[in-house]
Amino acid sequence: MSDARTGRFVVLEGIDGAGTTTQTARLAERLRTDGGRGGSPVRATREPSDGPIGSLVRQVLTGRMVNPGGRAPGWTTMALLFAADRMDHVESEIEPVLAAGGVVISDRYDASSLAYQSVSSGRGGEQAVEWIRQLNRHALRPDLTVVLDLSPDLAATRRESRGEPAQLYEQNEVQRALAAFYRDLAKHMPDDRIVVIDATGSVDDVHRRVYDAYRARFES
Ligand code: TMP
Repeated sequence: MSDARTGRFVVLEGIDGAGTTTQTARLAERLRTDGGRGGSPVRATREPSDGPIGSLVRQVLTGRMVNPGGRAPGWTTMALLFAADRMDHVESEIEPVLAAGGVVISDRYDASSLAYQSVSSGRGGEQAVEWIRQLNRHALRPDLTVVLDLSPDLAATRRESRGEPAQLYEQNEVQRALAAFYRDLAKHMPDDRIVVIDATGSVDDVHRRVYDAYRARFES
């Protein structure tokens, strides 16, 4: 963590279809219209990022880039790619905003790596989690991580209604294991501030809960 940092770094997490993208945009909009922190910048961003490594990762997630034989790379390769993208993302997009006293809200960060790559490792348990944690040990720590907790069945319905082809991790059994992992996220990241909120209800309902978590962290 940089000592010169004066901004706020917030991360939204959850299974696919939980609403992290929508809620990231809503929180950013709210902080901008509220005047944020005296006009300092509010930046909504995401992982995989829009940088070069993030774009490559998105090609893997959508099946446009595969190994010979048509398979996606294994979990360790994916964890390394996500970690490389994270370093690039922090350096090029996150740190400059924090240094200017702004707020960064990221749709996913390293909790996604702990959850998705450990669950997809098929090894279950602490060994994979520890490997991924070590890999990300130099990643800047968020000030707040909000987990949007939604039942895997409801999330599946939301994903189906989008009508987009399923990405790499969007199988129902994987999503069920991910939902369980996210509920216990604090156990895996004991030094981070993690709040799990109920993500059922309307976009406005969930936004209110996210905003309450934000204010409780920074404004009480
Ligand atoms: P999304 O942009 O639709 O959220 O898709 C990103 C996908 O990538 C989602 O399924 C979660 C996954 N992911 C990981 O597996 N590991 C990571 O570290 C990150 C940031 C995302």
